[in-house]
Order: sequence, then C-alpha cells, then structure tokens
Amino acid sequence: MAANSQKPGFEMFRLFSSSDKAGLGFLDSPETPQPPPPPCVEVLSSEISASLKYTVEPLNLGELTLLKGRVNTQEVFGLSNSDLVPGKYEGGLKLWEGSLDLVKALCSEVKNGNLSFCGKRVLELGCGHGLPGVFACLEGAAAVHFQDFNAEVIRCLTIPNVNANLLENNQPSVANVSNSGGELRFFAGDWSEIHKLLPHVQENEKDLNHSSGHGQIASYDIILMAETVYSISTLQSLYELIKKCTSCPHGVVYMAAKKHYFGVGGGTRQFLSLVEKDGIMAASLVAEVADGSSNVREVWKLSFV
Ligand SMILES: C[S@@+](CC[C@H](N)C(=O)[O-])C[C@H]1O[C@@H](n2cnc3c(N)ncnc32)[C@H](O)[C@@H]1O
Repeated sequence: MAANSQKPGFEMFRLFSSSDKAGLGFLDSPETPQPPPPPCVEVLSSEISASLKYTVEPLNLGELTLLKGRVNTQEVFGLSNSDLVPGKYEGGLKLWEGSLDLVKALCSEVKNGNLSFCGKRVLELGCGHGLPGVFACLEGAAAVHFQDFNAEVIRCLTIPNVNANLLENNQPSVANVSNSGGELRFFAGDWSEIHKLLPHVQENEKDLNHSSGHGQIASYDIILMAETVYSISTLQSLYELIKKCTSCPHGVVYMAAKKHYFGVGGGTRQFLSLVEKDGIMAASLVAEVADGSSNVREVWKLSFV
C-alpha cells in the first residue's frame, strides 16, 4: 500500500510522532491516577448536537471519496486542538491516519474477494469520525454499531459525519435507517464496561474455547478499529472486549495502528503479543504503510484459530 501523503483538510495527528512526546498530560504514568471513566450510554440519533459549528470536506481515498466532518475541540471539551486527556477525552474529534489506512485496506479486501460486509453485523471500536463504519454501511452491512469513549464525540461528530456520508451516497440518514428497522447505533463508554450495553455480546468464555466446541454465536461478524492500541494500560480491556464481541468461529477483527507509539509504549506489537500469548486468535498482516519515518503503520486481521 502506498504511503499516505498529507491530504488537504487532513489533520496529521502529532501527539505520537517520534519527535513529539507532547507533554499534555498524555503519558501513561502510574503516578497519575485517572478519573473514573464516563458512564456507558447509548446515544440516540436524535441526541445529535445542533448548536455546534460543523463543517465537512471531501477526503479522496483513491477509489472512494468520503466526507470528513470537523468540529472545534475547544467548543466541545474546552481543550485546544492538540489535547488528549487520558480518561477524559481520548482523541476522537481528530481524524487519525490509521482510519484512512483501514478504509483503504478494507476496500482492497472487498475488491480482492477476501471480505464482504453484505448482511454482516459490524462494530467499530474507538470510532471518532467513524469512517471505517461508514464504509461498512455503504458496503451493505446489516447493522453497524459505533463506539467511542466520549458521548460528546458521538453527538457532535460521529452521528453528523455518518449522516453526511450516507446522504452524500443517497442512503437514508441515520434516523431514517433506524426507523426503517435498520441498525445504526451509537454507544459511548470505556472498553472495560461497554460490553454490558452492546447488543451483540456473549459473555461465556467457554464458547471461545475450541476444546469445548463452539457453535455460531450471535456476536459481531466484523470488528473494526483504528488507532486504538496506543495506551499500554487499556490493551488488556480492549482485547477482552474483542473476545466478548467477535462472533466465534468466523468473526474477524481489522485493526489499523502504528507499530509503536513513541513515548506511550503501545502499538501493534504490544497488542499482538497479548493476542499471541492468549492463543485464541491469530493475526495476519493485511497492509503496511511506510512513509519513510520510523513510525510504520500497519493493518492487521485477527481471526479465531
Ligand atoms: C486516537 S482516537 C482514534 C479515533 C479514530 N478511530 C481515528 O482513527 O480517527 C482513539 C479512540 O479510541 C477510543 N478509546 C481510547 N481509549 C478508550 C477506552 N479506554 N475505552 C473506550 N474507548 C477508548 C476513543 O473513543 C478514541 O476515539
């Protein structure tokens, strides 16, 4: 896959670049206790924020053009645009490079016959703008559920951005899809707790164990996530959530992220080592995006062994 050059209107996310360790209270420090996570809630499409200034611009992704919404982080959270406050605001208002890598990789997977979204239940974790989930909608998924840490991100950005992209592609808006029995739903909350709210989750660990034999479980067929594995402290809860949500044995996870997040310790290697030690899922590399810097970006696919 070719390296991404910076597109007009695309905000390069700099917090994790090798040269910028951004002293914005971002580092995972054992001495800095984090606030309790916000409560898990379902955000209804009617709760869309109407008062904020919201603008959109087109993003050319090769064979596909999607719309990217923009809101002011200061207006939503009272933070400057580069802030990310662990446990309070996890960066969902910015568009990260990984989500574009993921959409491009999904596009190739569909084109090459390795993946189909038709009739599938899809969950996008850590969605922010929700572009991978939008792609799943446009490719005919039966249900797409979007999750972000912050309800404000969903109200102010995710729902308007999903709407803008659906309308641009002559699809019914979020409210109309939902009214007609479709499944576009939005959930906010921490990965350690959100399984209590997500509709397609199975809690029974035994069902994931090959030795017990497993039937088809009504969980998510496809889980998508971009730039979610940056923080060492949340990798385990993210992985536990994935295991609860992925339909066994045929469900798959597509993950886009940087190999290493300098200064914060996470990255695809850290996450994949958890997966490997657990032995329930196996990973294969789908795409690598090297733009000449030391920070290689990757897209991985996980499936049950
Ligand atoms: C860096 S942003 C990436 C946003 C988007 N996927 C993109 O690539 O543009 C990381 C996202 O992960 C989610 N996130 C991070 N830590 C989380 C946690 N502990 N629980 C739930 N979500 C979390 C937040 O919702 C946030 O939007």
